[in-house]
Amino acid sequence: MNSEQQTFSAGLEGVIACATRLSHVDGEAGRLIFCGHNAVNLATTRTVEEVWFLLHHGRLPDETELASFKAKIETLGALSDKEVTLARTLRAGEPLSAFRTVLSAIASARGYKPWLNRDQAVVEEEILALSALAPQIVEVIHGDRAPLSKEGNNGYAERYLWGLTGSQPNADLTRALETYLILTIDHGLNASTFAARVTASTGADVGASLTTAVGTLSGPLHGGAPGPVLDMLDAIGTPENARPWVEQELGAKRRIMGFGHRVYRTDDPRAITLRSVAEKQNGPRITLARVVEQEVLAALAAHQQQRSAEQGKQKRPLRTNVEFWTAVVLEHVGIPRELYSSTFCTSRIIGWGEHIREQLQNNKLFRPLSVYSGPPVSE
Ligand SMILES: CC(C)(COP(=O)(O)OP(=O)(O)OC[C@H]1O[C@@H](n2cnc3c(N)ncnc32)[C@H](O)[C@@H]1OP(=O)(O)O)[C@@H](O)C(=O)NCCC(=O)NCCS
Repeated sequence: MNSEQQTFSAGLEGVIACATRLSHVDGEAGRLIFCGHNAVNLATTRTVEEVWFLLHHGRLPDETELASFKAKIETLGALSDKEVTLARTLRAGEPLSAFRTVLSAIASARGYKPWLNRDQAVVEEEILALSALAPQIVEVIHGDRAPLSKEGNNGYAERYLWGLTGSQPNADLTRALETYLILTIDHGLNASTFAARVTASTGADVGASLTTAVGTLSGPLHGGAPGPVLDMLDAIGTPENARPWVEQELGAKRRIMGFGHRVYRTDDPRAITLRSVAEKQNGPRITLARVVEQEVLAALAAHQQQRSAEQGKQKRPLRTNVEFWTAVVLEHVGIPRELYSSTFCTSRIIGWGEHIREQLQNNKLFRPLSVYSGPPVSE
């Protein structure tokens, strides 16, 4: 077959690149599954550690297993004094970039080596250890101080919030954050997870794989939208201004942050759940956010209809994605706007770690082909 006859899928849309037992995004039904469990049910009733255990072992823990897993994650999640100093030295710049740099430096300082031909159990412990460090890395980057003591803490979500706000958070705020962290813990073969698996497939060290994944989050098309969503709510200001603002943005061919998804053809279940959390919080943003969501949905539907007519093919529906209501929930919880992507990282790093583990248990180097579109051979 010559190159003109070959086709490819831009953005690998519709391409199945691996099998995973970890999660399934059912885009038609608007359902998210983690290891056979409905993610929404898990997010509203379970803790991060329970879901992490589920991803790791394929089943939920009993009480004793949970206690020992929680203790292990807390121990692994503590930076050494040397690592705190390293993190404080490298924390310059935007928090997510600092996170990426610090994570990479810690893995390197710990001497983590390419996993190929090494004892798998040791490599799996390295994955768990690096993933567990995320909350303290964000705390040190944000606070430029040693992590606070959190004696009597109730787990991963509470420790994270405590480290950022400086005191033990109340149970409602922790629950809201915990729901978010669970909902975003894994999501099929999204861009960052794919990136992590591609790097892992070369036999690279786990620090390199996780750092690759963090790198993808700097773009607002994947994981970086909640901050811009709040910027948008600020710019709109009042419910009456929502319609003209949105029309102006679409007219200027700009994307509306927090809307649209590659896989979901119906409502994103994570957005629905986080909308309920935001409704329950009933914070000062809620009225504006509700109006803006409705105005954007109406404007996007009209926009897609017009584009369908112009292009002579049906354009996909654009619905609210997880990041719109994430912004409202995280603001109410008290997380600074510049840390939204890092907060996403403290959740998704768990999924990345489990995907890397899955990749190396049954590895095949990722090496797709490309269609040549350059000039013909001239000599
Ligand atoms: C998430 C996203 C990247 C998925 O997009 P995708 O599946 O790759 O689809 P494409 O980028 O090819 O976009 C398809 C069409 O929908 C339009 N579109 C998609 N999302 C849009 C949005 N949020 N606002 C306006 N138009 C949008 C595109 O302009 C494009 O239109 P065209 O075909 O007429 O040129 C996209 O919806 C987006 O950019 N959303 C905004 C950023 C965001 O919220 N990111 C967080 C994702 S969880």
